[in-house]
Amino acid sequence: MKSKAVRVHVAGGPDVLSIETVDVPAPGAGEVLVRHTAIGVNLIDIYHRSSTTGQYAIPSPATLGVEAAGVVEAVGPDVSDLVPGQRVAYWNFLGAYAERRLVPAWRLVPIPDAVDDRQAAASLVKGATAFYLLTRIWPARPGATIVVHAAAGGVGQLLCQWASRLGVTVIGTVGSDDKIEAARKAGCAAVINYRREDFAAAVRSTTDGAGVDAVFDSIGRDTFDRSLDCLKPVGLMVSFGQASGPVPPLDVGILAAKGSVLLAKPTLATFTRTPADIAALTQGVFDALERGLISPTIGMTAALGEVRAVHEKMEARHTTGAIVLIP
Ligand SMILES: NC(=O)c1ccc[n+]([C@@H]2O[C@H](COP(=O)([O-])OP(=O)(O)OC[C@H]3O[C@@H](n4cnc5c(N)ncnc54)[C@H](OP(=O)(O)O)[C@@H]3O)[C@@H](O)[C@H]2O)c1
Repeated sequence: MKSKAVRVHVAGGPDVLSIETVDVPAPGAGEVLVRHTAIGVNLIDIYHRSSTTGQYAIPSPATLGVEAAGVVEAVGPDVSDLVPGQRVAYWNFLGAYAERRLVPAWRLVPIPDAVDDRQAAASLVKGATAFYLLTRIWPARPGATIVVHAAAGGVGQLLCQWASRLGVTVIGTVGSDDKIEAARKAGCAAVINYRREDFAAAVRSTTDGAGVDAVFDSIGRDTFDRSLDCLKPVGLMVSFGQASGPVPPLDVGILAAKGSVLLAKPTLATFTRTPADIAALTQGVFDALERGLISPTIGMTAALGEVRAVHEKMEARHTTGAIVLIP
């Protein structure tokens, strides 16, 4: 079987994305052949595409992408719990930017009838992130106030929706005025354009000087210091991404100086170490979708062949919500 796949041979800009035809063998023991119908795009795909070393470097060559939804086409000899024709999804597994691929059966989850393929591809990585952040890192509680950076983005919108629907007051930041409405719709009580305004000062004035209980900072280098200035004493700084680049090494004394604040640097990898972990997070996302705690906005849908343009737009900060590629 042949498949189109978006591969990277050398790390670099969007131009290194190469659309190739690859062979996909018949599924072996424990494997399933999946035909993708919707592929989720995540900022980590850009880290993978452009990193030569460190935690985001990927093998060479590699097919990019970490999540997709699709249909089972064939199963390996010992796979009994999945059948051809079944709708399935997987996430956190490199190689998703393709028409078809083999996936270990244990990574696949049936998609509930109430969730369509695009919604599944738009919400698993992002929703699982919002879920573990709001349960394991900072258990959400009604009446608390938080800041969510990039509130109109993929993870950002789901985090704002989920937290606000649990009774948390969310102050969102966005990088342009045309994203304000999306952040408001996602549940932000106040939205700050952090490219125009000093967001820490705006957060202080919005909270009558009190500051917030937690900051969810996925921006990294550009926002880290000022995010600490948004916190109440003993508030929690959750540094969970680096859209603008990694946070430089810091002197831990800064945490005392900012009010005995706490710092968390969580990664999805810690919460996806076993198949049971993955199943629990997946179930949490599907439950949240079915209960209406999250409702992903798909801000862009593009053909797999348009992947370079999609990466360019994402890096230029011209996207909102989730992005889905259609093979
Ligand atoms: N730790 C974890 O477990 C985990 C898991 C999943 C994702 N993440 C992190 O969550 C964040 C959001 O991921 P996502 O896939 O949903 O992406 P996204 O939020 O849809 O896109 C990234 C957004 O970051 C903002 N941004 C600020 N500075 C930027 C820059 N220099 N370059 C690009 N974007 C910049 C932009 O929003 P504005 O224009 O509004 O500023 C942009 O739209 C990422 O940092 C990702 O690494 C972490």
